[in-house]
Amino acid sequence: MSDNNQPTSRGNWGTRLGFVLAATGSAIGLGNIWKFPYITGEYGGGAFVIVYLFCVLLVGLPLMIGELMIGRRTQKNPVGAFKALHHEKSPWQITGWLGIASGFLILSFYSVVAGWAIAYIFKAMAGFSGTTEAIQSQFGALVTSPSASIMWHTIFMGLTIAIVIGGVKNGIERWSKILMPMLFALLLGLMIYGLAFTNGGMQALSFLFSPDFSKLSAEGVLSALGHAFFTLSLGMGAMLTYGSYMKRETNLMKDAITVSFLDTLIALMAGVAIFSMVFHYGLEIASGPGLIFKTLPVLFAQTGRWISVPFFVLLSFAALTSSISLLEVVVSYFVDERKWSRIKATLLLGGMIYLTGILSAMASWKVMFRGSDQAWLDVFDFITTNYMLPIGGLMTCLFVAWVMVDKERAEEFGSKGLLYKGLLFILRFVAPIILIAVFLHGLQLLPFMEY
Ligand code: PHE
Repeated sequence: MSDNNQPTSRGNWGTRLGFVLAATGSAIGLGNIWKFPYITGEYGGGAFVIVYLFCVLLVGLPLMIGELMIGRRTQKNPVGAFKALHHEKSPWQITGWLGIASGFLILSFYSVVAGWAIAYIFKAMAGFSGTTEAIQSQFGALVTSPSASIMWHTIFMGLTIAIVIGGVKNGIERWSKILMPMLFALLLGLMIYGLAFTNGGMQALSFLFSPDFSKLSAEGVLSALGHAFFTLSLGMGAMLTYGSYMKRETNLMKDAITVSFLDTLIALMAGVAIFSMVFHYGLEIASGPGLIFKTLPVLFAQTGRWISVPFFVLLSFAALTSSISLLEVVVSYFVDERKWSRIKATLLLGGMIYLTGILSAMASWKVMFRGSDQAWLDVFDFITTNYMLPIGGLMTCLFVAWVMVDKERAEEFGSKGLLYKGLLFILRFVAPIILIAVFLHGLQLLPFMEY
């Protein structure tokens, strides 16, 4: 695994800041602004948030360091990386395969939701007006119209494919640098507005930060863990792949802390902003995947276009900097291992993901899942977030902690000191135990609990 036999065409990040922004761009997306508020609403607020924060700190952050380590050491895609660190027939490559499958499935529904965000740019341009009900009913009209949903999904997938064809430096990195700071500023503005100028600010804070554990179901705990993975882009090789485009000299831990911190901050800011509106206008807390599309426009009807248009533009871009990392995982495998050209891999796999996404765009097509009729979007989301990502994460964690040789790990980490020992302890024991326990709890199988 020397640097000498690196294929030069693979590409690298231009600068360290470029990597941090791209990784942050991958992490920050619909997960933070669309999903975090709505699942927090569904699972009852504070207690869910606390479990999620614990998972970010005790499982997510260490695992992010682990994934970046594997990627940077091997400079390979998720399947190739496990082979390179173990051996050609290594069963650990299943982790990579699972990651590619997760990336494929997540992107298929992610693109549909991102399509809604693009649709809302145009609705915002036209202006939101009328009664609260009228504004909110626009969402239902959008999702129940297959032609509209598919059209926006087509546009979003097209953009994702175009950027990924552009490659690592020119495509992904350049966009992230400009747009992430803008998103941050706008969200900060919305949050301050929610806190200072609405009557819902205090209620939002107490909903988000004062935990009532009796409200948290076993499924809520599992979802909090799953969401920690989803929002940090972990458990499916996205960070591993981005790490593989990293130069050797950077400090992994610092970068991982930066990315996790910013990601968490953005989610909490979005949560405060959105729940302030929810309480101020007396809207439905647990309104599911439509939450931001139903609450924010009610506010935007008053603030006007100068704030609503930029919001949905930036939300769409945040989704784009995430979707490209999802597609990149899938593409990097075919480019590295199968020697396909980047264009061919991107078009072919992107096309297949697009077709799969049509299932999610058809809101009226239901499947039987966990005892009820559900939309494909929710089913794909549930399975990937709550099962595939945590399993991929557990396997990655065990690999870094127990299979990678000490020398490799320490070299990548840059020291053998106390921090390194602590990290290793977490990866060896703490994170796997939490993962397995939460998993069993989610399946209602923990022996000492009553369900
Ligand atoms: N982290 C992204 C978000 O929060 C989604 C994502 C998941 C991206 C997994 C890459 C890998 O929106």
